[in-house]
Amino acid sequence: MVNPVVWDIGYLVSAALFIIGIKRLSSPKTAPAGNRLGAYGMLLAVIVTLARMQSEGKIEMELVVGGLVIGGLIGFTMAKRVEMTGMPELVALFNGFGGAASALVGLSEALKHIQAESAPTGGVELYAIWVAIGLSGLVGWVTLTGSLMAMFKLKGGFTIPLTKKWVRFPTWGPPWLNFVKGGLLLSGLALIGLTVDDPHNAQYVYALVAVSCLLGVLFVLPIGGADMPVVVSLLNSLSGIAAAFTGFVIGNNVLIIAGSMVGAAGLILTFIMCKAMNRTLPAVLFKSFGGSGDKEQLTRTKVGSDPEEVAMVCDGISKCVIIPGYGMAVSQAQHAVKEFADILEAQDVEVSYGIHPVAGRMPGHMNVLLAEANVPYEQLIEMDDINGELPETDVALVIGANDTVNPAARSGEGPLGGMPIIAADKARVVIIIKRSLSVGYAGVDNDLFYENKTMMLFGDGKKMMNELNSAMKEL
Ligand code: TAP
Repeated sequence: MVNPVVWDIGYLVSAALFIIGIKRLSSPKTAPAGNRLGAYGMLLAVIVTLARMQSEGKIEMELVVGGLVIGGLIGFTMAKRVEMTGMPELVALFNGFGGAASALVGLSEALKHIQAESAPTGGVELYAIWVAIGLSGLVGWVTLTGSLMAMFKLKGGFTIPLTKKWVRFPTWGPPWLNFVKGGLLLSGLALIGLTVDDPHNAQYVYALVAVSCLLGVLFVLPIGGADMPVVVSLLNSLSGIAAAFTGFVIGNNVLIIAGSMVGAAGLILTFIMCKAMNRTLPAVLFKSFGGSGDKEQLTRTKVGSDPEEVAMVCDGISKCVIIPGYGMAVSQAQHAVKEFADILEAQDVEVSYGIHPVAGRMPGHMNVLLAEANVPYEQLIEMDDINGELPETDVALVIGANDTVNPAARSGEGPLGGMPIIAADKARVVIIIKRSLSVGYAGVDNDLFYENKTMMLFGDGKKMMNELNSAMKEL
């Protein structure tokens, strides 16, 4: 039998790797190394856990290796196949799997205790075990069903197998639904209390599973598209909290530490997102805000410009701010955008990038794409800082962004109401590259397209950037 201190030391090293890894994620320069450290920490935790269980004779190796191979293959294939634009859905799904893993461990522990004659029947141990099992189940199942809802909402809906019919997910949340959700939460907590009172009754455990699953669905159902980033990061936090509870259930320190870190990091990100969208967390969760999913009908028109005209406007300017959005990600225009910046810089134009915290479809979406195109990190300027510079900017080039530059947000009304925006409209000339006048993610028409100082370059982001670059070179 191996000395248990060996396992504790292994867990301590892996927890230290998680902490140093997360610290390194705070700067783009050190982030890749931080990511690797976190992965090594997880690998070590898995090896230590397997070795410990093997030495205690608790596992059948075939089952574990089979699980690792099948799970690893599925994860690898999904990560390889996913488009950059589908990343938020994948993140939502993985959050759900995290919640499900915790909930299933909690369920198996609960059933084990219910069947075991030796299960504790009183005292602190009973409370500790059942409360931890109950909370890991409650939070875990909520995370699973809530994340699946968030995934389908991000996708816009799902196809019914065989019929191939596309079903759109509604955003539905009358005020009374909050009472139902509150009632379900209280029922879940009451069921945990009942399992403590009657620890050999499996009915309470199954009822808790049903209540938690329903709560997860109703929790996300009323939340509209524009608020989905907040929800996904909150669900990420919940998956960590569920894992931490599971760590208590099975007495695994590294799970408690890693789960708490995911819980805390997800919560911090949730508040950063709320601030970026000028929402409070209770407003996101209980006010059924963020867009009904209905898109505004467009009635206005605007004549488009051509790349040659736009190139002439860019000739001789001294300051340009590039504002990227989701369309840059879709068209993979980041390299062409960098080439445009290089052309301007060769003419002594000052170039910077205005980055909105929720531009694209996931936190840091624009930063990742621009880093891939070797844009210097110092040129990526956060919203609050770039807004001070835009009134002195000759050209604001908006590529594939819409909601994040939509002045309608300033009115405080509608799905975008109150969301801080990048003030592209304050620049002397605004150039917008997108395929049409259509609305963005929140479904709101954008007055900026129709302003006299705005030139619309209609077309795919990458194609139009390449044509603009060619026109610039020919001047
Ligand atoms: P959006 O408001 O989503 O607008 C993107 C625009 O890109 C669309 O209007 C579309 O117009 C254009 N586009 C699409 N494909 C294109 C292509 N191939 N070439 C050129 N343009 C293309 O983008 P945004 O300003 O980045 O705002 C992000 C929105 O997503 C916010 O409402 C935010 O709340 C939400 N959201 C963000 C996140 C995170 S965490 N970032 C997660 C979920 C949701 P055309 O169809 O006319 O081309």
